[in-house]
Amino acid sequence: MVTTRRLGRTDFEITPIGLGCLPFGGPGVTDRFYATITQPVATEIVRAALAGGITWFDTAEMYGKGHCERTLTTALREHGIEPGRVTIATKWTPLLRRASSIGRTIGARHAALQGYPVDLHQIHMPHGGFSSIASQVRTMAELRAAGKIGAIGVSNFSAAQMERAHQVLREYGLPLASNQVQINFVERGIEREGVLEAARRLGVTLIAMSPLRTGLFTGAFHDDPSRLTSMRRIRRRLAGFNARTLARTAPLIDELRAIGTAYGATVGQVALSWLTTFYGDTVVAIPGASKPRHAAESAAAMDLRLTEKELDRLDELSRGLS
Ligand SMILES: NC(=O)c1ccc[n+]([C@@H]2O[C@H](COP(=O)([O-])OP(=O)(O)OC[C@H]3O[C@@H](n4cnc5c(N)ncnc54)[C@H](OP(=O)(O)O)[C@@H]3O)[C@@H](O)[C@H]2O)c1
Repeated sequence: MVTTRRLGRTDFEITPIGLGCLPFGGPGVTDRFYATITQPVATEIVRAALAGGITWFDTAEMYGKGHCERTLTTALREHGIEPGRVTIATKWTPLLRRASSIGRTIGARHAALQGYPVDLHQIHMPHGGFSSIASQVRTMAELRAAGKIGAIGVSNFSAAQMERAHQVLREYGLPLASNQVQINFVERGIEREGVLEAARRLGVTLIAMSPLRTGLFTGAFHDDPSRLTSMRRIRRRLAGFNARTLARTAPLIDELRAIGTAYGATVGQVALSWLTTFYGDTVVAIPGASKPRHAAESAAAMDLRLTEKELDRLDELSRGLS
């Protein structure tokens, strides 16, 4: 039985690992990163996640303008999961929009979620919008007061931007539930840039996006570097997938593999276990999956218990990489 965690200072309880649903997004943003996934495959991925004990799902308006949300909730319905039994996090896209668009698009979010609630609504990024963070957060607070969303989160926010969002929400007696940021062995900016410290002080959950660095920390590309050539160019560039990165991270992969062998666990499972344990309850992770096997593996990482020594050894090996 997996121990759940509170989502920030809200009443939502979530498992340390949720399912990142970006690969379900289809045309638009998703297919620049990942191959398109059909509904039957997505349904099997969701089945594997649920069977492994995962209780929450991260999606976004930006992932196919409703396509990802519809694919996810179609899968949940096919598995007989009643609305309210799992937690759903989605996001509003601020790009070239005013805060008022949050209210104008909430109906579209509900329609795409097909009767499942918006448990957590997140501001996808702090930049690119025409309104201040404060007005965006105020609009979110109004939606929460109107019962249209369950909790409020942000994504890609700095420590100062989190503080601002927290301050505004305090006027409404609401908590800032979460900040979704990239955290993995080569991306540990949260420690240097004050995000981790602010999250702990304000009681905000950090949701680690790209926790496997889009697959780097599964060891699959170290085992078979020829896979790099079939990868989408933008994914390869953004995650820095190249021969040099593979060489730099090889000692860490070797250690992940050695630790995993002792537990009968994979490289990716040890990586996810480290991420959701090393920072205490503050960090939860949303690995993506293009195959049911990926979701099953990620879910099973929640059963792994690494020792202090193993956590420290991985910390030490990754420090030089970030
Ligand atoms: N807020 C934001 O701005 C933002 C940005 C990016 C992502 N996100 C969120 O974070 C989630 C995860 O991020 P991500 O997809 O970028 O990266 P990720 O979770 O680090 O990597 C996921 C990819 O790694 C590969 N993989 C996963 N499990 C594996 C396994 N057991 N064995 C081998 N390969 C495996 C799969 O790719 P292949 O099968 O193609 O190899 C999978 O699609 C997204 O779904 C989304 O919800 C948010």
